[in-house]
Amino acid sequence: LKTRNPFFGEVAANYDSWYATPKSKYAEEVEDRILFEALDGVSGSLLEVGSGTGNYLIKFTGFNFECGLDPSMDMLRESRKKADVQLVNGKAESLPFKDNSFDVVAAITSLEFFDDLEMGLKEMSRVTKRYLVLAFLSKPSLLYLVRRFQNMIRKNEFGSYNPLNSKTLAKHIVRKWSNFEIEFAKSTLFFFPIYHRKLHKFIRTLDLKLSKFSFGGYSILRLIKIQS
Ligand SMILES: C[S@@+](CC[C@H](N)C(=O)[O-])C[C@H]1O[C@@H](n2cnc3c(N)ncnc32)[C@H](O)[C@@H]1O
Repeated sequence: LKTRNPFFGEVAANYDSWYATPKSKYAEEVEDRILFEALDGVSGSLLEVGSGTGNYLIKFTGFNFECGLDPSMDMLRESRKKADVQLVNGKAESLPFKDNSFDVVAAITSLEFFDDLEMGLKEMSRVTKRYLVLAFLSKPSLLYLVRRFQNMIRKNEFGSYNPLNSKTLAKHIVRKWSNFEIEFAKSTLFFFPIYHRKLHKFIRTLDLKLSKFSFGGYSILRLIKIQS
């Protein structure tokens, strides 16, 4: 899939309104549950690559220094309104930081939009001292299948991002950068396309019980860098 970055102008200005519906609130709830599990016990300095409007920069706790980086000035402008942290206009593919600059380098639903995923991952693994935390929309999953099918009938936003296979991505990183080990791999949003308020408890139970499997629509990996 050819990715492009749609996060400018109107899209940036309206980005946070996505979180307003009960369905998206549900997604946020279960996504955050596994994200904060992945960050448990992790501290020091943090760089979020593709920090967008800063929703995660304000949710992260326990870090002594936070920096958000994003290629979209429009997204950064939104985040400036809420997050009092360092913000940098830049791209994952060429990070303006020295090797091992941050204890944690995280990407929360931004990998799918990188122009060059390989280059972005290489840069992120260079500037992290210890952890890489990757959260992304994933396949194989029901969410992926449904969006793909809908996109065939009528073009939707699916065409502009590239969902990733969690297992393949984890294996690829470990093979390519042999100094990384996978510490945490979970996913959620298994049946998200059929979410309905009346099904909330049922879907939530399934989403939390199945999180060790990789076929959810949203996955998280935490990798640790082994210093030689
Ligand atoms: C779906 S938003 C996620 C924003 C934020 N992380 C969140 O979860 O709310 C994706 C973000 O990735 C950024 N992005 C797109 N291409 C990028 C690249 N090559 N390097 C870094 N960030 C990129 C976009 O500008 C956008 O702000």
